[in-house]
Amino acid sequence: MFMSQSLCETHTICSLGFRCFVLGLFSWHPFFMTLAFSLFMTEAILLFSPHGSPIKRFPHKTKGRVHWILQCLCFTCAVLGLAAISYNKHLNGKPHFTSWHGLLGLLTVCVVGLQSLAAVPLIYHSLAKGWSLAKLKRYHAASGLVTYLLGSVSLLLGLCSAWFTAAVMEYAWYLSVLCPALSALIIMNQVTSAYMAKKRLQS
Ligand code: HEM
Repeated sequence: MFMSQSLCETHTICSLGFRCFVLGLFSWHPFFMTLAFSLFMTEAILLFSPHGSPIKRFPHKTKGRVHWILQCLCFTCAVLGLAAISYNKHLNGKPHFTSWHGLLGLLTVCVVGLQSLAAVPLIYHSLAKGWSLAKLKRYHAASGLVTYLLGSVSLLLGLCSAWFTAAVMEYAWYLSVLCPALSALIIMNQVTSAYMAKKRLQS
């Protein structure tokens, strides 16, 4: 008797928990996506900055390791964010990838996956025979910048969605747009200046 009552209570708590999870499923999408791009990917690139990185004095090898750990976290969160919105749409019977935000967002998540795969030869150099490490690094930095910009534009389009514009007040909206836009400018400046410095050294 006591056993069946406590089983029944456990079942009620579990189904309530699941219902809350599904009802709030949409919110996991912006949460995981901003975590992926505004935190993990931004920090993964900024840690190479010669100006303000918290691990500025660490050897380059350590920075490289922290960079790929942060990028793995970024990809994991991006996949979780994509799964959340896709499952939410499936539950509500809504069509998929119908907006510019949805289409560019899907492309961004695929590019992040490809960029991460293409970075493996930077750790295991024997996988890319005939390619110098310097050349691989240059291509990785250039395609990484393109990936970051894709992420920023997807994020900005997400902030323009009807859901977000209705959820925040005007000033808060401008502030939310300013953050990814400024980050994109800072990252563009960091990556292109590192390039220029290397080119100047080579010539
Ligand atoms: C770089 C970050 C982001 C990526 C890669 C991304 C990706 C996506 C994708 C692929 C979809 C379509 C899913 C489907 O149709 O099955 C989608 C939908 C959606 N996202 Fe995002 N998202 C990002 C950030 C955000 C943010 C920050 C918000 C809100 C502040 C947001 C709000 C929405 C909304 C309202 C939808 C449903 C409407 C639509 O399909 O456009 N997203 N997102």
